[in-house]
Amino acid sequence: MTTTTNLQYQMTPGGALTGRWRVPGDKSISHRAIMLAAIAEGETRISGFLEGADALATLAVFRQLGVNIDGPDGGLVRVRGVGMRGLQAPAEALDLGNSGTSMRLLAGLFAGQTFPVTLTGDVSLSRRPMRRVTEPLALMGAQIATTADGTAPLVITPTAQLKGVDYALPVASAQVKSSVLLAGLYANGETCVTEPARTRDHTERMLTTFGYSIRRQGLRVCLTGGGRLSGCRLTIPADISSAAFFMVGASIAPGSDVLLEEVGINPTRVGIVNILRAMGADIELIDRRTVGGEPVADIRVCYAPLKGIQIPVDQVPLAIDEFPAIFIAAACAEGETILTGAAELRVKESDRIAVMANGLAQLGIDAEPRPDGIRIIGGQLGSTAATGAIDAHGDHRVAMAFAMAGLRASGIIEIHDCANVETSFPGFATLAANSGLNIVEQRV
Ligand code: S3P
Repeated sequence: MTTTTNLQYQMTPGGALTGRWRVPGDKSISHRAIMLAAIAEGETRISGFLEGADALATLAVFRQLGVNIDGPDGGLVRVRGVGMRGLQAPAEALDLGNSGTSMRLLAGLFAGQTFPVTLTGDVSLSRRPMRRVTEPLALMGAQIATTADGTAPLVITPTAQLKGVDYALPVASAQVKSSVLLAGLYANGETCVTEPARTRDHTERMLTTFGYSIRRQGLRVCLTGGGRLSGCRLTIPADISSAAFFMVGASIAPGSDVLLEEVGINPTRVGIVNILRAMGADIELIDRRTVGGEPVADIRVCYAPLKGIQIPVDQVPLAIDEFPAIFIAAACAEGETILTGAAELRVKESDRIAVMANGLAQLGIDAEPRPDGIRIIGGQLGSTAATGAIDAHGDHRVAMAFAMAGLRASGIIEIHDCANVETSFPGFATLAANSGLNIVEQRV
């Protein structure tokens, strides 16, 4: 019997991106929508839910904990919330696949439950650092065991009562902030988190939408445990992190003109717009409005010649998932682009500094990896004919970034280990092909 184990992309050079479309729903917001809906009182109706493997892993977990969930069906999900204390013990370990957001946020949410839970993940997730959440949660009284390396599986043993904490995050991480805040819902007294730099605030916004009171002062956010969430209606915007690939593709391919509909432009996520504009990109945000407590806009991007820049360090947390795509833009820009202050990229779904530098070098681009960033000198993107295929290392964003490189390459680019594109962007290859990318997806 043959089973499909993976996907590869073959990119024929050239092409331009044109048309208008909506990329799938925001991954970060989809996770949070399921989590909060599950522990809310009453029903929550979600539209625009991301039907990608990561968000579906979160959804499956709550079914295993006894929550009645209809869908997803065309992005619609109906969750019958069980209230703060209504989750039931799962029969087995909870497998979160590739999803770091699920594991880190659920560690916080489950630390305050009255039953034990074990969280597992795939090979990539099982390599990612988890002490960044288990340490602050331990300060709250949580009992979470990791491997000796501080990685998953996470074995959570119930604690009599969590206590509030006042925690200063050592790294700018929305996942850690969210994990501590979710545990704080179950803690005695006040839980406060102070970030070193502003990170995505979807948890805080969504808690407010579910009627939970949050206090923010500058980089510090606090809540008091013991409250309740009320079910609601939520619309999830299109994911700016998925739109980013098309923003880069349209910027680098002459003749491109795209309109990306209803994209989330939360100020904590717009680093991609700011960085590409600083490089000379032609990006217009049209019809700004609010959807589901989040700012959105239609984003028009037309081709424009790009120049290399020193990426401002304050933009790094605001573009943290977009660097694989930004590196492709830098490779097509005139001159040098330098990124610093981005060591976090080394502990994403892959080591994105090393993996991107290797792939760019295979395409003949001068890319020098550094401990906390990279230096890229723009040039002519080549082909993988001589070097062998680029290895995406199972990292969805690396695969999609190199797919866009095909628009400016001198020959064919092959990319291997692309199946995880499904984690955040189901239907990517079809949508990209329909918009003008010369992409062929092959099952292997
Ligand atoms: C996320 C936060 C970021 C981001 C990830 C999603 C979230 O991770 O890279 O894709 O949903 O909170 P960190 O918190 O590790 O920076």
